Amino acid sequence: MRLKDKVAVVTGGASGIGEASALDMVAEGARVVIADMDSDRGEALARRLNEMREVCAVFQAVDVADEAQVETLFQATLSHFGRVDVVFNNAGIGHMAEADSYPTEDWQRVIDINLTGVFLVAKHALGIMKAQGSGSIVNCASILGNVGQSMTSAYSAAKGGVVNLTRTLALEYAAHGIRINTVSPAYIDTPLLRDLDREMLDRLIALHPVGRLGRPEEVARAVTFLASDDASFITGANLLVDGGFTAGKS
Ligand SMILES: NC(=O)c1ccc[n+]([C@@H]2O[C@H](COP(=O)([O-])OP(=O)(O)OC[C@H]3O[C@@H](n4cnc5c(N)ncnc54)[C@H](O)[C@@H]3O)[C@@H](O)[C@H]2O)c1
Repeated sequence: MRLKDKVAVVTGGASGIGEASALDMVAEGARVVIADMDSDRGEALARRLNEMREVCAVFQAVDVADEAQVETLFQATLSHFGRVDVVFNNAGIGHMAEADSYPTEDWQRVIDINLTGVFLVAKHALGIMKAQGSGSIVNCASILGNVGQSMTSAYSAAKGGVVNLTRTLALEYAAHGIRINTVSPAYIDTPLLRDLDREMLDRLIALHPVGRLGRPEEVARAVTFLASDDASFITGANLLVDGGFTAGKS
């Protein structure tokens, strides 16, 4: 088992890629804190996981953009499980608008959750991991942190920020035995895409050389790998899980 006896915090763990990752990590032996704003889904998932293996999951309500709540998340994790070995920094939202009419409050909310939230979660995890002398953080960016796409200015700016924040943190904490990597998925079939109509989805599918969207489980396998000791010499990396999206034009 890749994460036997490890304690993992998964933000945005109640849905989509986070949910699939929490399931994968528990299957690989971890105990997991599901950290999310959605209490109903988060608590239901924790119950489901505890039926798979006793006392392996708890839910903690958190808005990752609120530093006091992030601090409480890690205090709660320590009081439940005593340590923090893995963090999947995954909570995020989407938003599309043309730049010249982009509502500034929407820009700010996307940056607050998708970039500042990633920093705040890393910040509070790193203090604990530094004291432990070990840890592994996987930050969730996107193909849109690697290439641009029209109508996504706040989202792309935030995700590009996550890719380079990861590199910087990796340098800062390598000597403390802490690895920090990014996973960059292409379009994945999750509730995040629920507002897109059929025509838009077909257009997006056509951008993936493999001819389909990704599945949350396919991202989860990459996250578990990066989180685990199998990736012991990998830090500061940006693993594209994108069905060839960024490889070029075919
Ligand atoms: N689905 C995709 O196509 C895709 C592609 C690339 C990257 N991503 C990234 O993957 C991550 C997960 O996305 P998903 O597709 O699973 O979406 P999702 O909507 O299924 O899940 C996101 C989860 O994050 C939670 N969340 C939102 N804001 C939060 C906050 N402020 N604090 C705590 N939790 C919050 C939501 O409640 C939800 O449970 C995001 O960072 C997203 O940007 C998704």
